[in-house]
Amino acid sequence: MNTHAASEAIEDKVKELLSQMTLEEKAGQMTQIDFSVVGTPAVSGEEPPIDRTRLEDAVINHHVGSILNVPFTPANRAAPIGTWRKITAAVQEASQRTRLKIPVIYGIDAIHGATYTQGAALFPQAISMAATFNPELSFKEGEITAREVRASGLQWNFSPVMDIGRQPLWPRLWETYGEDVHLASVMGTSYIKGHQGDDFSAPDKLPTCLKHYVGYSFPINGKDRTPAWIGERMLREYFLPTFEAGVQAGAPTVMVNSSEVDGIPGHANYQYLTTILRGEMGFKGFTVSDWEDIKRLYTRDKLAATPKEAVKIAVMAGVDMSMVPFDFTFYDLLVELARSGEVPMSRIDEAVSRILTVKFQTGLFDPERPVLPAEGNFATPEAVETNRQAAREAIILAKNDNHILPLKKDASILVAGPTANLLSVMNGGWTITWQGDSESLYPQDKLTVFEALQTKSAGKVTYVGGQAFDDPIDVDKVVAEAQNHDYVLLALGEKPYTETPGNIDSLMLDQKQIDLANAVIEAGKPVILLMLGGRPRVITAIAEKVPGVILGFLPGMEGGEAIADIIYGDYNPNGKLPISYPRNTNDIVPYDHKPTESFEFNTYKPLYPFGHGLSYTTFETRGLSVEKSQIKMGENVTVHVSVKNTGTLKGKETVLLYLNDVAASVTRPVRQLKAFKKVELEPGQEQSLSFTLTPRDLSFIGIDMKRIVEPGEFKVMVGNETAGFSVTE
Ligand code: GLC
Repeated sequence: MNTHAASEAIEDKVKELLSQMTLEEKAGQMTQIDFSVVGTPAVSGEEPPIDRTRLEDAVINHHVGSILNVPFTPANRAAPIGTWRKITAAVQEASQRTRLKIPVIYGIDAIHGATYTQGAALFPQAISMAATFNPELSFKEGEITAREVRASGLQWNFSPVMDIGRQPLWPRLWETYGEDVHLASVMGTSYIKGHQGDDFSAPDKLPTCLKHYVGYSFPINGKDRTPAWIGERMLREYFLPTFEAGVQAGAPTVMVNSSEVDGIPGHANYQYLTTILRGEMGFKGFTVSDWEDIKRLYTRDKLAATPKEAVKIAVMAGVDMSMVPFDFTFYDLLVELARSGEVPMSRIDEAVSRILTVKFQTGLFDPERPVLPAEGNFATPEAVETNRQAAREAIILAKNDNHILPLKKDASILVAGPTANLLSVMNGGWTITWQGDSESLYPQDKLTVFEALQTKSAGKVTYVGGQAFDDPIDVDKVVAEAQNHDYVLLALGEKPYTETPGNIDSLMLDQKQIDLANAVIEAGKPVILLMLGGRPRVITAIAEKVPGVILGFLPGMEGGEAIADIIYGDYNPNGKLPISYPRNTNDIVPYDHKPTESFEFNTYKPLYPFGHGLSYTTFETRGLSVEKSQIKMGENVTVHVSVKNTGTLKGKETVLLYLNDVAASVTRPVRQLKAFKKVELEPGQEQSLSFTLTPRDLSFIGIDMKRIVEPGEFKVMVGNETAGFSVTE
């Protein structure tokens, strides 16, 4: 059946089903509850940790249409795949005993693999996937994630984050694909395509969820869930395009921004949720609130005078499903609002139709459909190898003075620092537990940076440090031990976090770590600085004193081995920064800044710029040319350039094509990434590349807030070359 016929068939089924539903059944479909409403502490043996009575009360009496989150086993942490399959089977069995047998859709945050299923392939987090500049890897991550989540019996993934990461203080920066619209759009849509395939009802595919729509990632003070002030032009230039790309890639659900933009909470913003998302982007799927955020219109934002008004505001703004999540208040209030006519049945029917449509598209209405077997679909060697390759390509070699790296296998290395011997610091939040900080729950068979170096080493590798991130650091002991080694690998950075627990008051790396670094540098041995963590921390004073700097961010469960592969030269690094790495705490300027930000005394002077990343070989781009120096409005532009491996080692290089609109009616960024290609070249090998820029690539949001292309001069830049062309009417 072709997709049009399939969608027509689904439309008919939804209409038929809707016509049979009661108001209560419809309100239930718009209700999502946390697993804890029906869960129990884990009991040993066969039984899933579910209270049957509470499950039936939710699914049969309150007609709940969705459940989310991790089961208690015994407390909010990853469960074995067998437990998940029992849980989701019990939930579906209960839904089959409802009057209309409408299946529950179980959603989970599987943001870098199947987060809450023990033993899953847990990839580099989005910021690190972006650093690979490799869309194929993002596609494969989507494929593997969908397969492992489906094998767990789950049916919906609250991923990818399509927020743009332009506020480095924000504790969820690492959940984004970085500061650039084009990079985030390419990496996010590649993930969606791998995750959903052509038909996400397939047993190994799964619906995605674009989040957090929109403007959540730009809190003006850097703290999670605090106000963003985003003018319409900035919204349309930087924050909407990635969601537009995600909608066009076929994501069927959108999760709403937990915070507020220009004084309007995301969950109350009719213009964003309906006028733009539906009217302009043509989104047909359903929106889901974020955690308790409809209630918070009353309890936190003081926008609604009562809980009931909060439900009315959110539903009428365009929120289709409420992540309540701990009770049935949304259900009860919505029924009341419908009975009083304050929420028209047409709006409820619209929301329920969208939800039912996605459930049909996800294949849930076929109760006989087998759950993908775990065997051969979960934690496979291929998944592990793909994950390791992603980790390798995520690592950024930021500094390598005098080619201090790679080290010889027989080198004598002292490994020290709070991120040297932990797995959690490479994975971040949403890993086994919400905050990702339960190190004892991490798999024993994965290696920390120290363990991976030790395993690969033919020399002496010693670790001096604590067991936990916050353990006191015995600086004297580290300095003394350094004397017995040729090199010091100093692993610094952050412990895991997500959401408001990850708020910080300064981007500066904490003083304890800076003191350790200065003492180690003083000891006189060559120091390689490794930074791990979700966001850049200001390290300028120490980075300038060491010959080697590696930026690992959050490379995932294979990060230790990947970093060791790079340190010993078993892999030639090729990661590049997806964000500008600040030199100072208050010098937060993105690479695509405006001319005034690099004019006279204003300069773009990050410690390491967007797109920066070294290799153990060298590359050269040359021969940049534009096929036509003049094009008509509406035509494409073809750009040619060649890239050569001018060094002695095989390596991968990402060629970045930037554009500048020389003069326009709205100030334009000094450069914007519009295309990139990653190639692998043998020493001496040269490859010609072509890029096609479309009118959309040349466009911007004009004075009247419409996307336009203006005639005039344009420049393209690759490496240190520039070529020009003009657009005529
Ligand atoms: C959280 C997060 C969101 C997540 C949701 C469900 O508050 O903001 O990213 O998907 O709740 O866990």
